[in-house]
Amino acid sequence: MAKIQIDGNHVFLYPMPMVLVGAVIDGKANFMAVGWVSRVNMKPPLFSIALGHHHTNKGIEEHQEFSINIPDVSLMEKTDYCGLISGEKHDKSRLFEVFYGELKHAPLIAQCPVSIACTVYTKAKLPFDTLYIGEPKEVFTEEKYLTEKKLDVQKMKPFTLTMPDNNYWSVGSPIGKAWSVGKGLKT
Ligand SMILES: Cc1cc2nc3c(=O)[nH]c(=O)nc-3n(C[C@H](O)[C@H](O)[C@H](O)COP(=O)(O)O)c2cc1C
Repeated sequence: MAKIQIDGNHVFLYPMPMVLVGAVIDGKANFMAVGWVSRVNMKPPLFSIALGHHHTNKGIEEHQEFSINIPDVSLMEKTDYCGLISGEKHDKSRLFEVFYGELKHAPLIAQCPVSIACTVYTKAKLPFDTLYIGEPKEVFTEEKYLTEKKLDVQKMKPFTLTMPDNNYWSVGSPIGKAWSVGKGLKT
């Protein structure tokens, strides 16, 4: 076993889910692409997003609300665009059909299989990014993305990101049942 070390700056998790984070700034919906997103608590469900210094942060800071929208593969181009262009200079509010639930500053994307409207539960200032932890207040989907009343990833068709090669990937086939395939090794 000849292990070598590589630069920690070039290490990420493989793969990362791609989402569109929404906020309202100056009365306008804005969306940015985010790959650094994760579920971080069991009960209540909490989600973290790590944001650098972006226009979106303004809306989150002002209203303490944001949305996490899970795009499908058909939205890859628009998602990438939302990661290339800032709402400070270009209006991204008309890219998608936007709707709102009870949180009026958490813009939701109708075309996305899943949209989560969050309030800010807490935040942590990190050396570069701000980690916002959101608590979902409402989660929207459509019947067609469910199997036995639960979200079905094969129907949702989300996509993922790898860095530093900067590729998007579709989700492949399941290879085994979690909390199950290891049972045979129990003594
Ligand atoms: C694939 C991809 C993933 C990204 N992930 C993040 C992320 O996790 N955190 C972040 O702060 N910016 C991320 N960005 C950059 C922002 O989406 C980008 O700077 C965006 O233009 C910010 O929009 P805004 O200025 O309208 O808020 C990502 C961009 C791309 C293309």
